[in-house]
Amino acid sequence: MSHLLSLTRAAKLVGATRVELQKKMKSGELVAFDGMVAVKDLLACYPAAQLEDTAEYRRVTQIKERAFAKRVFERILPDAEVLATRLTDLSKRLTQSESQVGRFNALLGKIWDKFRETENRSSGETAATLSVLRHWLEHEVEQAMEPGFTNPLEIKDGVLSVLSAQVTLLPSKQDFLVEGQATLLEAALRAGVSLNYGCSGGNCGLCKGRVVSGQVRKTRHHDFPLTRAEQERGVVLLCSNTAVSDVVIEAAVTDGVQDIPFQQISASLKSRANLNDEVVLLHLQTPRSQRLRFLAGQRVTLKVGASFTAELPIASCPCDDRNLLFHVHRQAGNLFSDYVFDKLKNNETVEVEGPQGEFILHEQSGRPLFFIVLDGGFAPIKSLIEHAMSLEA
Ligand code: FES
Repeated sequence: MSHLLSLTRAAKLVGATRVELQKKMKSGELVAFDGMVAVKDLLACYPAAQLEDTAEYRRVTQIKERAFAKRVFERILPDAEVLATRLTDLSKRLTQSESQVGRFNALLGKIWDKFRETENRSSGETAATLSVLRHWLEHEVEQAMEPGFTNPLEIKDGVLSVLSAQVTLLPSKQDFLVEGQATLLEAALRAGVSLNYGCSGGNCGLCKGRVVSGQVRKTRHHDFPLTRAEQERGVVLLCSNTAVSDVVIEAAVTDGVQDIPFQQISASLKSRANLNDEVVLLHLQTPRSQRLRFLAGQRVTLKVGASFTAELPIASCPCDDRNLLFHVHRQAGNLFSDYVFDKLKNNETVEVEGPQGEFILHEQSGRPLFFIVLDGGFAPIKSLIEHAMSLEA
C-alpha cells in the first residue's frame, strides 16, 4: 500500500499550494482518502516532480554550501536531540522495510518453486499455459523490481520528515509543519494559525495544549508550573515545546476578536523609512518575552514622546508578532505625526496598546475578496493579504 500524506505535506513535496491540490481533489484529478493522498497518486498527478526540485533538498544543499553558518543552522535544522530522534525513527522504518523486502523475496522464491513443480506434474496444454504464465509473472516482477527505481516523492518525504514534523490540531483539524528550531506556537503563527497564547515566553500558561499522539520535546525553559495531573494527561506549553514526530494536539484556537486580550507593551523603534514625502514606515520591535497578539486587520494605539498618541492599523502579519509595521501619514498640526516625522529616533520607546477593531478575515468563507483602498487604508489590507498568504487561502 502506498504511503499516505496529509495535504500540507503533499503540497510541500510537489511545490504546490494546498488550494491547488484541493482543486485537483475536487475535480477527481487527484484521488484522496479522508483528506489524505497516496504518494503514487501524487506522483501520477505530478509526474515531473524530482528530488532536486524541492525546497527541502535545496535547503539541505544550502546548509552544506554555507558550511553550517550559525544563523542558517538555527533556522533550518531542528534541535540536535530532535534530529537524532527523527533519524532513529527513520532508521527503524528503513530496517522494517528491508526485512519486509527480504520476506517478499523469500515468498517469491517459494511461488516460483511451486509453479515449476506444478508444471512438471502437468502435461500438454496445461503445462504450456503454466509455463507462459510463469514467464510473464517473472518478467513483470523483474520490471517492478528494476534496480535503481525509486519513487522520488518517497525520497522527498523522507527528507521532509527529518527536517520538519506535522502538527494537527483538534478540534479545529488545522495542520501545519514545524521546521527548524521553532516551537509549536511559533510554527503555528507562521502558518497563520491563531493559537491561544499570551506571553510567548513560558510565563502565563495560556498556550497549554494536550498531546493526543506523537512526541514533543521541551526546547525552551518555562516558569509557568504545570501540575502533576496536567503532565500525566500530556499537557504541555506550546511556546516551550517543539514536535519530534508528527503530532496531534488538542489546543484552543482564537475564535474571534473577543478572544484577544487588551495588551500594553513597551516596544522600540527598530527602523523607519520614508515610503514617500507624505508617508513614513515605522518598524517597531517588542521585547522577546512580550509580543503583540492580534488578528490581521486590527489597530492599536501608539504613544510617543510626551504621550503623543494615534490609533493606527497594523500593517504587518500576525505571523510575526514581534515585528510590527505601521504607516504614518504626514498631517500638519498633528502632534503625533509631527513627532514621528521630525523627532522619533531609532531605539526610542513607543508604547503599544490594544488591539482593537473587528475588520478581520473570515477564514472559513470560500467567497472571493475584493479590497478597494483609498489614501491611508492600505495598511490593514496589507496585513490581511499577508495573513491570507500564510494561510494559503
Ligand atoms: S504563551 Fe505564555 S506560557 Fe506560553
